[in-house]
Amino acid sequence: MTHKRVKGCYDIFPGSKDLWKDPAVWAYVENIFKKTATLYGFKEAMTPSFEYTDVFTRSSGEASDIVSKEMYTFLDKKGRSISLKPELTAPIIRAYLENAEMNQKMYKLFYLDSCYRYDRPQKGRYRQFRQFGIEVLGKKDPLIDIEVIAMFLQIYKNLGITNTTLLINSIGSKESRETYNAELVSYFSSFKEKLSSDSLSRLEKNPLRILDSKDAEDKKIVANAPKIFDYLTDEEKAHFHQVTEGLDELGISYTIDPLLVRGLDYYTDTVFELIRENDASGQNTLGAGGVYEGIAKSLGGKDVPGIGFAIGMERTIQYFLENNPSFTIENPPTFYCIGLGQEYKKTLLHLALKIRSLEGSAELFEGTSIKSGLKNASEKKARYAIILGEIEFNSGICKIKDLSNREEQSIQLNGLLDWAKKHIKT
Ligand code: HAM
Repeated sequence: MTHKRVKGCYDIFPGSKDLWKDPAVWAYVENIFKKTATLYGFKEAMTPSFEYTDVFTRSSGEASDIVSKEMYTFLDKKGRSISLKPELTAPIIRAYLENAEMNQKMYKLFYLDSCYRYDRPQKGRYRQFRQFGIEVLGKKDPLIDIEVIAMFLQIYKNLGITNTTLLINSIGSKESRETYNAELVSYFSSFKEKLSSDSLSRLEKNPLRILDSKDAEDKKIVANAPKIFDYLTDEEKAHFHQVTEGLDELGISYTIDPLLVRGLDYYTDTVFELIRENDASGQNTLGAGGVYEGIAKSLGGKDVPGIGFAIGMERTIQYFLENNPSFTIENPPTFYCIGLGQEYKKTLLHLALKIRSLEGSAELFEGTSIKSGLKNASEKKARYAIILGEIEFNSGICKIKDLSNREEQSIQLNGLLDWAKKHIKT
């Protein structure tokens, strides 16, 4: 083979060795996501695969890893800087500003799309990956946070996945974070000799991200770092309190993680992540989100508050299959047409076209012997094999084998379509 797919990517392909790459599983899961979003009143939005680079630098923060290290950025033929979408919230807000009726109070959007990040590939981390996400735009209200988090969990429940942990925190406003950042810099500065080189480089640019470090030595230092909650205003604390109270009332369990900060700069107040239970691997976050402010303003609009989340499709589908090891999806054809010879194949081709136009399913055999035709029909779990060869044709009949009970019958060729019509739904 001379050509291989680009590193960090994967194909979704029928019959894939890995079941998570089978399109039927994707269709099943996507359908549950879309159906749930529709029940909650969300409408689908689609945006282009690439945007002008500053859509991301202005909104997600130039110091964030996603923008500073991981974007696929190139100049187009007119020298404009373009980036493949590393995340989908900023493009949705850019599209909202360009298309929406601003006098409408709230917009509730969902999307299912690809993201591109140049990160080190490993299981659960790809350079092209897919997200299902939602955004509620236009209002900030703890009740909306509660509804969005409840929906996030409902999606997983609808997939039959309950062995997860919801982490939640409040990171307050940009102003509260400035004071907190200054405290963090002063705290971490006294550990300069011990911090990892990554954390050292974050000390000046983005000290909050040190809290997220996976380095064992850093983690020990982080454990005693000042906690953001102590720097929130009374109003911010009250917002968070209302959210946790609302979750309690709904019986939703969560863990408050004072170190949860998120990797994109636009978040304020409530942030959350859903992780696999009992999984300490780095790639255990199934999906994540939070409240944000300032994205619309940074893109030239009036400020529009929002909240949303995005679910990593690959990790979620992999976890879904771990929870359902015997999951299969079958769409067996009702009729499997075995024509033995070009002329007879053609007759069956015409029959199959008519069956499909009546919304029946029919497949055509491409081989030459009855034995292998019947073997294929069984493998595909077809209900009926329709067999037409020279002998049958010359007698004006064709043979039908009911593969559910192996019973055989002969049918007049000129009555075959009527017989098929009667059995389309069986
Ligand atoms: P994020 O945390 O960067 O948030 O990504 C959300 C989810 O996408 C992650 O929890 C993970 O499951 C998946 N993910 C991220 N990177 C990769 C990767 N390289 N390979 C596979 N899966 C990955 C956002 O993107 C925000 N836009 C979410 C949001 C929406 N916040 C508000 N609204």
